[in-house]
Amino acid sequence: MRSLHTSLAANARQVPGLPPPGPRSSTAPPAFPCHRRWLGSESLKALQHDNTLPGMRIVSIVYYSGAGHTAQMAEAVARGARSVADTEVHLLRIQDADIVQGRFRNEKLLQALDASHAIIFGSPTYMGGVAGQFKCFADATAERWFRRAWVGKVAAGFTVSGGPSGDKLSTLTYLAILAAQHGMIWVGNDLIPYGDERGRNRLSSYLGVMGQAGQEPPEEKPDEADKATGEHLGRRVAELAARIVFSTPA
Ligand SMILES: Cc1cc2nc3c(=O)[nH]c(=O)nc-3n(C[C@H](O)[C@H](O)[C@H](O)COP(=O)(O)O)c2cc1C
Repeated sequence: MRSLHTSLAANARQVPGLPPPGPRSSTAPPAFPCHRRWLGSESLKALQHDNTLPGMRIVSIVYYSGAGHTAQMAEAVARGARSVADTEVHLLRIQDADIVQGRFRNEKLLQALDASHAIIFGSPTYMGGVAGQFKCFADATAERWFRRAWVGKVAAGFTVSGGPSGDKLSTLTYLAILAAQHGMIWVGNDLIPYGDERGRNRLSSYLGVMGQAGQEPPEEKPDEADKATGEHLGRRVAELAARIVFSTPA
């Protein structure tokens, strides 16, 4: 089985403002090409590789959390993903120290995402959108976007706000757009609000999972209903990833 993880760096073209992608092919590609036009199928085959065991799926949760509420949600999402057989789960927290002079500089974290079958994005809602630290991370994925490195990976998202609304939808919308730009397959929340005794999806969000913290500390909020909703999302993503036959885009 092949994963989506294709390393096309050797053939990628440098975009002004982006980090150099590595050694270039002798044939310079046109600006913003469909790389498959100029990357021969033989080269593609040679560049495909998959280090995962057959049937094993890697689900990574990449998130930022300032005070710890979104971290609580991330843990819940990870619990859900871990409950699915043959799933390896990575919790990847964006650190303040990863941002150097306004740029996200943690290549190891990005490489861990390269090797994942599914990526779940998480950010608190700050000023009606993702946290600045998360946006720095998202901007640093542009080089992957250029190489189409994440096309076909499964994606989903979650956020935590202080207010009951707090404009959280704006944050989830951004996470879905980020996934769409990468050509990922977005997975929403299928739970009916208050459809069970646990009160899951009490905040009635379908694009992704929402949690609300109010003024409470992360030990107390988001509450169990929100975390159970996050757990469900993690499980749903892992289950879906297990049903997909991953292959390099034709
Ligand atoms: C800079 C900043 C901006 C915030 N903006 C919003 C907002 O737009 N809407 C909202 O409901 N809460 C807002 N909050 C509250 C946070 O969303 C809330 O405290 C959340 O639980 C923080 O998550 P964290 O602990 O993972 O950082 C903001 C908090 C901070 C620090």
